[in-house]
Amino acid sequence: MRRSFIREILEHTSSDTISFAGGLPDVSLFPHKELQTATHNALENAESLQYGTSTGYTPLKEQIAEHYSERGFPTAPENILITSGSQQGLDIICRYHCGASITIEKPSYLGALNVFRLNSMETTSIPLTENGIKLEAFKQSIAKSKLAYLIPDFQNPSGRCYTDKTRENIAKMLEDSQTLLIEDAPYSELYFDAPHKSISQILPKQSYHLGSFSKVLSPALRVGWIRADVELIKPLIAYKEAMDLHTSGITQRIVSEYLKDSESFEKHLQILRVVYQEKMHYFCKQLELHLPDFEYIEPKGGMFIYGKFNGVDSRALVQECLKNGVVFVPGVEFGGGNDEIRFNFTHSSFDEITEGLKRIKSVIDLTKS
Ligand SMILES: Cc1ncc(COP(=O)(O)O)c(C=O)c1O
Repeated sequence: MRRSFIREILEHTSSDTISFAGGLPDVSLFPHKELQTATHNALENAESLQYGTSTGYTPLKEQIAEHYSERGFPTAPENILITSGSQQGLDIICRYHCGASITIEKPSYLGALNVFRLNSMETTSIPLTENGIKLEAFKQSIAKSKLAYLIPDFQNPSGRCYTDKTRENIAKMLEDSQTLLIEDAPYSELYFDAPHKSISQILPKQSYHLGSFSKVLSPALRVGWIRADVELIKPLIAYKEAMDLHTSGITQRIVSEYLKDSESFEKHLQILRVVYQEKMHYFCKQLELHLPDFEYIEPKGGMFIYGKFNGVDSRALVQECLKNGVVFVPGVEFGGGNDEIRFNFTHSSFDEITEGLKRIKSVIDLTKS
């Protein structure tokens, strides 16, 4: 069992290292004041300090269900299982389906790869194209898989977003093969142009839709959820109970209090979309200026720019970069090519983006000379 490169890196970087590694939000954009008020309100009632139910705090489940329904995906609170981040949601589903075969994207989210390994799942990786997963190969693979794991919105690590047509094709293929879908969607609200219909919405009885407040509110809260048909949710509850009894009642109430002002949340989401798009454009401009050999596709949302330096061993490069105070994640960590790299563009300030890319350039120049 290998540890996550990112989590290890986070432990070993010094405070002056510029990190393009983790999928971290911009600290300056956390709704700090509003969450302070929500925390105060949540603690008004001593009940907040009591044990809670394993499926989650009912008012929060109602708020999440309403959010889905408003977006045209009819959902009841019984369709929601609150989890300690969407990472736990994925782990619960995979413990239940322990040892099952699963079709995944190539490259894919590192934290998911580890969950599949720990649960002895047999993975088949299908490459991504600009529009989403390769459809013919996907169809052949799901004929032999019990599950499929996809991140259609601004995928981690590739930043790709599935077109609506691809989503419809995938739903049809999954329906025909009766393969269960795990749709991981922590970045779905971080679109720069327009939101996309989830695949789960087309396949509500055959899918687990994973959601999270980590990327849109705060990852420290550790509040995520699984949205699924009631019959799919039921057997998962015993796993949730065995893992941690329930997700922190305090943080669930903080989120619930915060969401009571739905206009303020919408405004916050809008700010994230605008600032993250600005940062993405800035990052791309700086890449062209300092690292013009880096080949990539501009993302339309999310947190990552993925691409490659042709023929460069990105694992060796990151070790040298670390010594020079800048870090990113090599694509091989996600099952990608040796010369591929994932950059996070949301966490660093504009100045840090420039300085970090200059540091990478100086390392590359040194290796060339
Ligand atoms: C695709 C994907 N799924 C799940 C997670 C885990 O998020 P959470 O903080 O909700 O556990 C991440 C975090 O980076 C992610 O990128």
